[in-house]
Amino acid sequence: MASTLVTTTVVGLLLALLWFLNPSYDPKEPRPISHTIPILGHAIAWAKDRRGFFIWGERRGNNKPYSMLLAGRKHYVFSNPADVATLFRKAKVMSIAPFIRILSVTLFGYTKSETTRLEGLHDSMHALYNKHLLNPEQYTLVVIAYFKDLQERMRHLSDEVRASEKGTLRVDAFQLLLDTLAKASTTAYFGRKPLDANPDMTTDMDTFVAKGFWLFLSGVPAMFVRNADKARKRIMAAMLTGVVDDATAQDRDDVSAFTRDQIALTKTVLSDKGVATQQFSFLFGLTSNSTPSTYLTLLHILYVPGLVDDLRAEMNASGFSAAPDSEKYKFVPHGLPLLRSCYFEAIRMHTVSASIREVLEETSITTKPAGPDQQPRTYTLKKGGVVNMPSSALHYNEKINPQPETFIPRRFVSKEDGGMGQNPQTSTRGFGGGSSYCPGRIFAERQIVGFVATLLQGFDVEVVDGEKWKFPKSAEFDDVSNSPRAMLSLKARDGRAM
Ligand code: HEM
Repeated sequence: MASTLVTTTVVGLLLALLWFLNPSYDPKEPRPISHTIPILGHAIAWAKDRRGFFIWGERRGNNKPYSMLLAGRKHYVFSNPADVATLFRKAKVMSIAPFIRILSVTLFGYTKSETTRLEGLHDSMHALYNKHLLNPEQYTLVVIAYFKDLQERMRHLSDEVRASEKGTLRVDAFQLLLDTLAKASTTAYFGRKPLDANPDMTTDMDTFVAKGFWLFLSGVPAMFVRNADKARKRIMAAMLTGVVDDATAQDRDDVSAFTRDQIALTKTVLSDKGVATQQFSFLFGLTSNSTPSTYLTLLHILYVPGLVDDLRAEMNASGFSAAPDSEKYKFVPHGLPLLRSCYFEAIRMHTVSASIREVLEETSITTKPAGPDQQPRTYTLKKGGVVNMPSSALHYNEKINPQPETFIPRRFVSKEDGGMGQNPQTSTRGFGGGSSYCPGRIFAERQIVGFVATLLQGFDVEVVDGEKWKFPKSAEFDDVSNSPRAMLSLKARDGRAM
């Protein structure tokens, strides 16, 4: 009798606790999608497949804004581009900063005081992005450095292929990218020294992101994520000795002007170790999205019959193939519209980027009707809620991107040139937007399109053991790195400069 009473009381208290912890919604907030697990809400489904989750949410929410509980927090999900543009403009009442703070401390190991000091540099840092990453005169210099280093790595690879048995080399596609694209990008920005100090730095990045990202972010202590933590420390050490110590010295003209300026700026508020951490976080931005996105672009291309021939025809017709190595960068990306379209198509299909903002004070948004069947509505967003603007909801909206499940190489080629004429600027949002719009998007296009063009010119590439791997669901680094990897056979193409 006593035990029944105790059990009933405990269960009653637990239910009451869960009821209190579950947020309530007022009718002016976007309509909630119900969940069965208290507190966690939809977190498990979200963690399993972030891309698919928001496509599901969009359909479940009937293409209207909706609310949902994710790990104890109320998320307001918006996907209509016009509403997203309005939300991006509300920078005073919603901010990405609280999330950057968490990422900085858990992932990169900044102290709390360092993150506060770095936040104080926000405007100066964005001025540097404008001065270097978004300014053609400056970014072209880094693109030239990237092509030079990439071509050198490809020549070494070509020698290796020619020296191998039967002139064919079998390589892990993702590792190939870590050894070429990621290393060439690292050299282009940071100069030679970090890779001299740690030749395995990009493989360390792989270990750090693929094995550590989510665990670090969830606050799991480093001692339980040993390999990823060791990899993180090795990258930091290479950044410290390889860049920070003498990057601003006169004779270090192999270091990009952007990196020099960034180091000089961050040195005003951080210790050398803090500066190395900041360089590490930029290296993360530079490689962690591009490497998996290139992997998916390349593999999609290899699986469409005849597409490689079409791309080579485009490379020949544009002059890319015949141009000397030092001039090839000039054709990328706009001289290769089909290849550029394939790149955007892979981003559209696989990216999971979601712009998130914390609501700092209660605000409202009047949405634009997404179709003739909808009315404008004014929604209230409560303080502490998270505004979530997932790109996959837009990317798989069939009114905006017809046949969203299919890789259509010419989706973004103009109609005059035989394509579908879609504009990647309006049909995709892989690079976020507003105050945190990716400043590396210009380099990313040249980095990825440049890599694929260089590879296809130098080598005949085939997927081997095709049945042993499958397309990862998303372009997230850990998803791609941890999925069974595609193996490629490379054969040097006769008579090529490589
Ligand atoms: C396919 C490649 C890439 C994708 C899909 C991508 C995507 C993104 C996204 C979604 C954001 C956050 C936007 C937001 O939260 O609103 C971002 C931020 C950022 N990205 Fe990229 N990115 C790529 C390549 C690069 C490259 C190559 C660089 C460096 C050259 C770079 C540097 C950065 C930086 C520094 C930020 C933070 C911006 C800030 O401080 O506000 N990204 N990127």
